Amino acid sequence: MMSAVSSSTAYWRQSDRRMGNADQVMAIGAVSTSQVSDRGATDQAVGPVPLRLLPDTAAVLPSDSLSIGGIEVAAVAEAVGTPVFIYDEEHLRSRCREARRAFGDGVAFASKAFLCRAMARLAHREGMMIDVASGGELYVALRAGVPAERLVLHGSNKSIKELALALSVGIGRIVVDSFDDIERLNRLVAGERLATRARVLVRVNPGVDVDTHASVATGREDSKFGFSLASGGAAEAVDLLSSCHSPVDLVGLHTHIGSQIFELSAFSRTIDLLAPLVMKTQLTELCIGGGLGVAYTEDQEVPPTITQWAAVVRDACRRAGLADSVRITAEPGRAMTATAAVTCYRIGTIKTVPLPSMDGVRTYVSVDGGMSDNPRPALYDSRYEAFLPRAVSAPRPFPVTVAGKHCESGDLLVKEGHLPQDVAVGDLLATPVTGAYGYAMASNYNKLLRPPVVFVGDGRYRTVTRRETVEDLLDLDVDEPALSHCLP
Ligand code: LLP
Repeated sequence: MMSAVSSSTAYWRQSDRRMGNADQVMAIGAVSTSQVSDRGATDQAVGPVPLRLLPDTAAVLPSDSLSIGGIEVAAVAEAVGTPVFIYDEEHLRSRCREARRAFGDGVAFASKAFLCRAMARLAHREGMMIDVASGGELYVALRAGVPAERLVLHGSNKSIKELALALSVGIGRIVVDSFDDIERLNRLVAGERLATRARVLVRVNPGVDVDTHASVATGREDSKFGFSLASGGAAEAVDLLSSCHSPVDLVGLHTHIGSQIFELSAFSRTIDLLAPLVMKTQLTELCIGGGLGVAYTEDQEVPPTITQWAAVVRDACRRAGLADSVRITAEPGRAMTATAAVTCYRIGTIKTVPLPSMDGVRTYVSVDGGMSDNPRPALYDSRYEAFLPRAVSAPRPFPVTVAGKHCESGDLLVKEGHLPQDVAVGDLLATPVTGAYGYAMASNYNKLLRPPVVFVGDGRYRTVTRRETVEDLLDLDVDEPALSHCLP
């Protein structure tokens, strides 16, 4: 008989704590003579979901039910249905204020982590600039009423159309990423009568390796992003843009070494590499990008705060000799929004599958969402916790695999989860820390409807993005083409 996985922490410890990568050990309830039940063994060591993974205003009601923003999560789910992304508005505001205090004016919210008009407005009103990485993000931010001068345009392959839109609205900053970018920008600027000269930053690839998932490491030598520092490409771009013939104003350097980073020294190393170029060219801005990590599961270390991150960055800038007058900025995404939200699902099926070859069972708890609202486990093997919002402080001894409803075996939201033993079909199930790169990367796979986004606060909720409808699924289809549209 296979020996039971004695405690969840034992196998969690073996896995990559940075990205929350799952290792190969699965949550299998091993069958033992003393513990046999049709759901397999329990793991008494697993306690309640840690409150530190929940939004700031999360509270446990006397009934043991979860409330966020002064409203019971179950009541929100009842009112708007499931799945639903529930964001704590106060948590979002508090992170924006912290970022603004820590870095000062110029710090931007990386909207790729989570963007809708309500979020763009909130970040803007709390004093942040907003980083947009495509014409689509730019459009949403503008339509949210964010003034163009408070926006920063990124992109490793910006189109003429995206650059033209940015220039025509008078965008605050453009981060150039390639010589093609510079050439396109120069051409556009020459052909347009702009009220103000475009202000640009050069994105530099410092060649810094960080401890994170390969898919989100962006500062390595072999990267599609930015101008390489080591090869001299970055210096060449700076020379080109700061020459007296340049039609744009080069104001600074930008870099982004990766995402889900816990090790602050990686930022200091990056600053040491970039500072000489900033000083040599007398640039007035340095943006260190985003990347600050968050904890997704109980076993992951507590990450540094935005304030601690900023202190390390400022200190490194000072030590590297940058003048106090140089504007040091950053553009956090995940650290702003990840822990602000939980996703709430409804359990529809509980199936215990015998695994004779391993002398155990696995219990699949299937919910009404899946990889279409959270592709991160499938993409990066990211791990999450699961819990029942009706029993927040209950121990979770029951090993389960939380599955979605998609037609793929890889559609697992929590491969090695634990729930209270009395979990039942019809229960609400929540996954915490889903506020970044969840809704932002959601899809209509299997024609599932994207969930709504609800902000909660002051005992109330408001839907800021509605649930998709089946009619939305037809909206982009074009009716049968007329024959005249057919090519000969
Ligand atoms: N600035 C730039 C130029 C970026 O490319 C990114 C993220 C950020 C800032 C914000 O980084 P953050 O603070 O969120 O780490 N889909 C992946 C994350 C991709 C990050 C892409 N760039 C995930 O779900 O983990």
